[in-house]
Parts: sequence; structure tokens; C-alpha cells
Amino acid sequence: MSLAAKTLVIIGGSSGIGLRAARRAAAQGARVVIGGRDPQRLQRALQEIGHDARALQVDATSAEALRAFFAAIGTVDALFTPGASYRVGPFAADDTALAHSPFDGKFWPQYQAVHAALPYLAADAAIVLVAGAAGARPVNGAAAYAACNSAIEGLGRALATELAPRRVNVISPGTLDGELWQGRPAAVREAAFQHYADVSLLRRVASVEDAADAALFLLGNPAMTGSTLYPDSGYVLR
Ligand SMILES: NC(=O)c1ccc[n+]([C@@H]2O[C@H](COP(=O)([O-])OP(=O)(O)OC[C@H]3O[C@@H](n4cnc5c(N)ncnc54)[C@H](OP(=O)(O)O)[C@@H]3O)[C@@H](O)[C@H]2O)c1
Repeated sequence: MSLAAKTLVIIGGSSGIGLRAARRAAAQGARVVIGGRDPQRLQRALQEIGHDARALQVDATSAEALRAFFAAIGTVDALFTPGASYRVGPFAADDTALAHSPFDGKFWPQYQAVHAALPYLAADAAIVLVAGAAGARPVNGAAAYAACNSAIEGLGRALATELAPRRVNVISPGTLDGELWQGRPAAVREAAFQHYADVSLLRRVASVEDAADAALFLLGNPAMTGSTLYPDSGYVLR
């Protein structure tokens, strides 16, 4: 499916993977609508994306906000859901909110987003969810986050089955060079990137552009459904 003249909704389109996907799809002629919580961030992103893209404020942790968001958009041809915010911590921590955080901030927002979009999805709509390679190869000290990513991969397969002939796929990135890591202290980032390169087949950290490229491929390819792609530089296999 070409995205030209199609409505592509990106929740989490004001930064990182979502912003890169928005820029590229808009340049290819897609009618892009980005969602996110911070209105100033959305406005800055719109200037980068150009091509008459639109922005609507939405907090994807709220099912009600998601319903209003999709009602304001109308027909959706393609949906991409990188918008997430969560904390991670060790299994032994006596902190229920911390344990629930990845599911509250990443799994349920995507589940609810697809649910809220349902009345508006075109018959041949394509959806891409975002998990993370830490589901397949966990890092120490983030058990709930690993489980959340695996759950999102499972959700993708389940929705591909239940929503067919609409297509549903998942990207499961590893550590990416982008705003999320650029916002962390340089020493922390450099140590994490070095470690990631050391333990990945390709000896490199992937970029948010690499992950956006994988998402756009899945949105566009009419044979792809129920799959998970790992733009992870071979982290999972190493
Ligand atoms: N970057 C990595 O290294 C990496 C690795 C593996 C997996 N991932 C996954 O990839 C996804 C996106 O990562 P990224 O690097 O693109 O992050 P990012 O640069 O921090 O962008 C996150 C985007 O999501 C929006 N957002 C966050 N919480 C939201 C909410 N509750 N409702 C609506 N929008 C929300 C943010 O805008 P507002 O804050 O204004 O809402 C922003 O537009 C996440 O699921 C992350 O777990 C990333």
C-alpha cells in the first residue's frame, strides 16, 4: 500500500521514531496526523514535518482522550504508535507502581489506541505497534519492561488475527540513537552505546531513522501481517 494521499496517524509523532516516520511519510504524500502530550513539542515537530501535517494533543494513557482524538480525525488508513513513557526497575524492588509502569505507559496505551481507532479504521488499514528488543533479550533489572515488550509482540499477532484483513505488525527496536538517549547524561549514554555495540552482531547502535524505516516498510507492504521486525543491529541474536 502506498501511503500517498492516505491518512497516517502517529501517536508519539513529535519526537524520535515517530517524528522520523512522520517526516518521511509526509514527504511521500501521506496526510500525516501526529499526536502527543506536549503542545509545544507538537508545534515544533509540525515545522519539521511540513507538507500540511496536522497535530492533535492526546495522552495515550487515557482511553477517553484517545476516543476524542480519533473522533476528530475520521478515517484512518495507517496507525503507528510509538508514544510511550514509563519507568523501569528491578524485580526485587518493593514498588507496585514501578512494576506496573511499562504496562501502564506502553502496553495499555497502544491497546487502547487501536481500540479507540477501530470505528475509523479503513477496511485495508495497516497498524504498527512498538515493542522493544529487551523482550526477546532482557537486560538485567527491568523484568516488567521485558514482559511488556513481549506482550506487545503477542498483541500484534492477536490483532493481526482478529482484525484481518486489516494488517497489524510490530517493530521491536534495540537501543537507538535519538532524542530519548540524547536527553540522558553524556557519560551514561556513551557507556550504554558502547555496551550495546559490544553485545550486538553489527557492533553499532541503530538510529531512530532505522526504526522508522522498518515501521514504514511494515505499513506499506501488503503481504506483511502478524510479524515483528527487530531493527536492533543484531542485538537479539548475539
Ligand atoms: N529509543 C530507544 O532506544 C528505544 C529502544 C527500544 C524501544 N524503544 C521504544 O520506542 C518507542 C518510542 O521511542 P522514541 O525513541 O521514539 O522516544 P521519544 O523520542 O522519547 O518519543 C516519544 C514520543 O511519544 C510521545 N509520548 C510519550 N508518552 C505519551 C503519551 N502518554 N501519550 C501520547 N504521546 C506520548 C512523546 O511526546 P510527549 O512527551 O509530548 O507526549 C514523543 O512524541 C517507545 O515505545 C520505546 O520504548 C525505544
